[in-house]
Amino acid sequence: MDWWTGVNPALWSCRIHICVIVLSVCPEVLRSEGGTTPNLKHIVIGRCYSYIRLVNPTLSYDCEEIWRHFEAAVVPRPSCGVRVKDYRHMFHAMPQLWPCDQFLFWSKTRGVMHGYTTAFPRSWTLERTLVGYMFNDLIWCGHEEDTAFNFHSCPKWSACVHHPVYSLWRQASQNFAETACGNITVLLNGSLQEAFSRESMFGSVELDGLNPRMVHYVNIKVVSNLEGPFIESCDRGSIVDLIHILRSRGFRWTCADDDLTLKVLQCVQNPRASGCRACADSLKRTPTTPPSGGA
Ligand SMILES: *[C@@H]1O[C@H](CO)[C@@H](O)[C@H](O)[C@H]1NC(C)=O
Ligand SMILES: *[C@@H]1O[C@H](CO)[C@@H](O)[C@H](O)[C@H]1NC(C)=O
Repeated sequence: MDWWTGVNPALWSCRIHICVIVLSVCPEVLRSEGGTTPNLKHIVIGRCYSYIRLVNPTLSYDCEEIWRHFEAAVVPRPSCGVRVKDYRHMFHAMPQLWPCDQFLFWSKTRGVMHGYTTAFPRSWTLERTLVGYMFNDLIWCGHEEDTAFNFHSCPKWSACVHHPVYSLWRQASQNFAETACGNITVLLNGSLQEAFSRESMFGSVELDGLNPRMVHYVNIKVVSNLEGPFIESCDRGSIVDLIHILRSRGFRWTCADDDLTLKVLQCVQNPRASGCRACADSLKRTPTTPPSGGA
């Protein structure tokens, strides 16, 4: 799912140019990036079975039927012409609800998010839903001339408004946000200029999908790279705008710049970082073995 939250900011700005100015401004963005992932059907159906048999054996879905709806949404349409609503039968075949208080949203904090979901296996990200699990990191598009997947080339998702990959993730993100309830957590990247961006999937789809009557608290956690830069925080930059939006929509919220749990998770991934030394030093000062000749 790199293409939305981990997306190269240059791509986003090009996308704006494309919409606002003319197509020729960023020609390199329009170049195709390889075609449909080879063996797409086997991967998608295989992941679906893996999900219902191994990951979440209490669930039951018809994986073949989900595939048929997916295929019917994509292949009869041109590679830039699959709308969000074209996937409605597919989403209908895979309804999913989550326990409250476990929803995790993130934007440009993929690495930390992975650490977080490992440490808190009950947290739910879009990647852990059936649709997220099935389609993560895959590419697909139809053919202009043929009713088949195009394994040769697909447009970059930033090159068209109705990109088949983007449309699916957009609907998946919206569904995920609309079912969010209880306390939710949002991980944002304080080392970036626009930690909260209205162009990100969180800022453009998920935030609007959240329901203040279902969400008890929006708990924002700003996490910066251990070595900096420290650009944005709860009271600086775009996160202030996010808090303003939350307030105006009637959400309760909290915001933390220095969440200790996240810091520890970062240090586990990168123990030699200078930002981790204070923590490591204090651990060293605590004797772990009794002094020699002790009682
Ligand atoms: C913040 O974003 C940058 C650029 O995408 C990335 O390299 C870095 O790992 C991110 N930091 C965190 C804490 O997620
Ligand atoms: C929800 O978040 C609020 C504010 O951080 C906290 O006081 C409360 O204990 C949380 N509730 C649950 C169920 O986690």
